[in-house]
Amino acid sequence: MRCIAEHVQAILVGSGWHPSLFRSEMEILCRKRPFRFGTRVMLADSNYDFFEDLKRSATLDECLSPFGLTTDITSLEAVIEGWINDKNLDFEKGKSIAVRWLRIEGGINGINGQKLAIFCGNLLKNNGWKIDLESPDVELMIILDGISEHIFWGERRISKHPREGWVQRVATERPFFKPISLDPRLARVALNLVIRDTGKIICDPMCGTGGVLLEGALLNQQMVGIDLDIEMVKGTKENINWLKKHNLDIKLQHVFHGNAINVNQILDDKKIKINGAVFDPPYGKNAWKSERRKGLFLDVLKNIRKANGIDFGARLVCFLPIKPGIHGVNEPIKGEINLGDYSTNQLKLEFNKTGWEIIGMHAIPVHGSLARMLIYANAI
Ligand SMILES: C[S@@+](CC[C@H](N)C(=O)[O-])C[C@H]1O[C@@H](n2cnc3c(N)ncnc32)[C@H](O)[C@@H]1O
Repeated sequence: MRCIAEHVQAILVGSGWHPSLFRSEMEILCRKRPFRFGTRVMLADSNYDFFEDLKRSATLDECLSPFGLTTDITSLEAVIEGWINDKNLDFEKGKSIAVRWLRIEGGINGINGQKLAIFCGNLLKNNGWKIDLESPDVELMIILDGISEHIFWGERRISKHPREGWVQRVATERPFFKPISLDPRLARVALNLVIRDTGKIICDPMCGTGGVLLEGALLNQQMVGIDLDIEMVKGTKENINWLKKHNLDIKLQHVFHGNAINVNQILDDKKIKINGAVFDPPYGKNAWKSERRKGLFLDVLKNIRKANGIDFGARLVCFLPIKPGIHGVNEPIKGEINLGDYSTNQLKLEFNKTGWEIIGMHAIPVHGSLARMLIYANAI
């Protein structure tokens, strides 16, 4: 199968950490919903040249373009041979190549990835390529997916992992750390879902240790954070200064002391116009056990909606606790489900009253007795 057309096309493979968030993130970054194979593989076909944007991803493991795919095990070698001989890979004399392979979701019975890679390597050698497994100019990647039962192959567009270096900058490495810090992967997915224009400002009205602000800084996104606790405000500033030492070119990040209930007023006073919000309220297991907590959350939603710059279609991501064990990570939460302190329909209704429409919900297991949910909403 030859895949060069007027569109930009690629096979995208998720890390497996959170397949349903992976698919939502890809839909946003490719600016069109990719076609789905199983849970972790997608085919993106867009008029938008998305390769640069994919480098921002928190969930992507592989991007192959040009690519081929098949379900036919019996003629697999012949199909790949045809694809290689069709000059899908951009050959120049002296160029080197490595063939890699990856089995996901258990791989496919009857296919030996290593043998297939050696077969491809020999074909490429016969076509004039130099084989170099250490630092090749081009990498041909073969993926055996046990869920969709497809074999995908193609030129690897991301050899440098989008999440390279994340281990070094986990929250515990920051000068100001508290166990409340948001997982950088979640902060990044949340920002990718919300950011519509990197020139506009995103707000975290309960910024804590600055997990969302730091991730925004790494995405070259201007951010504003607010927290009621002065220690958090100082700590977030300290973390941002620490990050600046590593990334000299980060955009300005504002941090203010204040109550998130007054978010619109605080931003007005500072003459800051925002374009979206990401926040993680201070709830443990029980989100809305008390009316006061529920009221605080809904007031914050209502007043973010009133903030200057939050127009129709602006986006928001927030997190709430849910009953553990009710939902996995392969599919988004859909339909009427009892989530513990509330049901999906009740939540949708409450959001509507504050000027937001929920467009996606994803369960985030934390540990045996705690789970959370990422809620993604549009301003209405
Ligand atoms: C779960 S933490 C946020 C963690 C943050 N995302 C991070 O990465 O560190 C919730 C934060 O909300 C703050 N907070 C609680 N009530 C608030 C309010 N009314 N206005 C602003 N901040 C508030 C708390 O001080 C706490 O820092």
